[in-house]
Amino acid sequence: MERLIIEGGHRLYGEVNISGMKNSALPIIYACLLVKDECIIHNIPRVSDIYNSLEILRGLGADADFIERNTVRINTKNATATIKNQELVSKMRASSYLMGALFARFNEVCINMPGGCNFGVRPIEQHLKGFCCLGATCIEKDGKIEIKADKKLKSQKITLDKISVGATINMVLASIFIEGTTIIENCAIEPHVDDLICFLNKCGGKIIRKNRTILVNGANKLYGTDYTVFPDMIEALTYACFVGASNGEVLLNKVNVTHLRYSLDFFKSMGMHIKEYESKVHIKKSTVLNGVNVVTAPYPLFPTDLHPQLSALLCFTCDGGSVKDEIFPTRFAYVNELRKMGANITTIDNMAVIKPSYLFGARTDATDLRAGAALVTASLGAQGNSEISNVNYIIRGYECLVEKLTSIGGKIKLVNN
Ligand code: EPU
Repeated sequence: MERLIIEGGHRLYGEVNISGMKNSALPIIYACLLVKDECIIHNIPRVSDIYNSLEILRGLGADADFIERNTVRINTKNATATIKNQELVSKMRASSYLMGALFARFNEVCINMPGGCNFGVRPIEQHLKGFCCLGATCIEKDGKIEIKADKKLKSQKITLDKISVGATINMVLASIFIEGTTIIENCAIEPHVDDLICFLNKCGGKIIRKNRTILVNGANKLYGTDYTVFPDMIEALTYACFVGASNGEVLLNKVNVTHLRYSLDFFKSMGMHIKEYESKVHIKKSTVLNGVNVVTAPYPLFPTDLHPQLSALLCFTCDGGSVKDEIFPTRFAYVNELRKMGANITTIDNMAVIKPSYLFGARTDATDLRAGAALVTASLGAQGNSEISNVNYIIRGYECLVEKLTSIGGKIKLVNN
C-alpha cells in the first residue's frame, strides 16, 4: 500500500514550477474527439486522471499518448462511439465529458455513471436537462446513461438552473456543430471553461463568452492544432497553503496571476507576504498568521477545491477561522483525519470552524484529492512524522508532489509496503 511519510517542521524555501491545470486539460483531451486531425497539447500534467482519460480515448480507437514530458498527441480520426473502458469512466468525474463530446460527434453515447472524488452526491441533472433542451433523448438505467438524437438538432437557448462547471463544458461540447447560435445561460466561468473555449476556437470553433452567457456559433468542422493548457490555479494555491504551514518562502513560477488574485487576497489578509509578477508569485509566511472566514462559491470567488487545504492552514493561525462550503456542503471527510493530528475543528452544517491547534504527526487517510492535500498541509507544519494512506487520491491531481516538495526542502517520501 502506497503511503506518504512526511517529517513536519521543515521550512519550505526555493522555487516551484506550477503544472498545467488538470481540470482544463481533461475537457480539452475529451474535446479532441470533435477534431478528426492531430492535436498536440502542451502543459498536460502527468497525473492519473489524465492517464486514465488517454486510455479511454485509446479504447475508443483514437491515438492518444504522451510524446514529451508534458505534451500529448491525440488523433481521434478512427474513434468510434463504443466505450471499451467503462470501469475507468466510473472512477472519474471528468469522464462525463464523453457525453458532450461523443454526442456531438456521433449523435449518441452510452456511458456508465461518471465517478469522481467522494464528497457527497454529485448529480448530473443539469447536464441531462441541457441535452434534452438540445433535442436529445436521455435515459438513465442500471447505472448507465444513454443520450441520443434521431433528428438534426437545432440551436436552442439553454438556461442552467445551477452554475456547474461540468454542465457548462458538456453544453459547449454538445452544441459545437449545431447550426445557428446555441445560447447557454448561467454558465460557470472557471478558467477551465475559458481554457476549453480557447482550445476549441483555435481549432476553428466560434464560441463567445459574455459574462455568464456563452454563445456557440455552429462550426462545420474543427481542425487540428497545437495548444498550451493554462496553469493550475488550485495547485498554486495549495502550495501557498504549504508555504504558510511550513513557515516557508517560495516563488511559484508559471502561474496565471489573474486566476489567483481573489484567493491570494485572503492569504494577504492572513498576513502572508505576497508579491505578484507577470507569471510568478512570491509567497512568504509572516511571523504570525491571522485567521480568516471564507465562503466558497463559483469562480471568480473562493474555490471549493481549496477549502480543505485552507482549513488545515487555519490550524496554524493565532485566532483560527472558518470555511463555509456553498458548492459541496458535505466536503468535510478531511475533518476527522485532521483531528487525528490534534486539530481543533468542529463542523456546523456546511461550515468548518477551526481553532488554533498544536498539530502532531499521525496516521491519516486521504479521503479525496483535496482532503489529501489538506493532510499534506497539516503534516508539513506538524511536529513529528505523519503517514498518509490512500495516496492514489492525491496523485490523481498533483503532479510530482514528492519531487516538488523535496526540491524546496520538504521531508517527504512515498513508500510502498
Ligand atoms: N450540480 C448539480 N447538478 C448538476 C451538476 C452540478 O446540482 O447537474 C451541483 C453540484 O452538486 C455542486 C455544484 O453544482 O454543488 C457545482 O458542481 P460542478 O458541476 O461545477 O462540479 P463538477 O463539474 O462536477 C468540477 C471539478 C471539481 C470542482 C467543481 C467545482 C473537474 C473534473 N471537477 O466538478 O474538481 O470541485 O468543478 O469547481 O473539473 C477537484 O479537482 O478536486 C474537484 C473535485
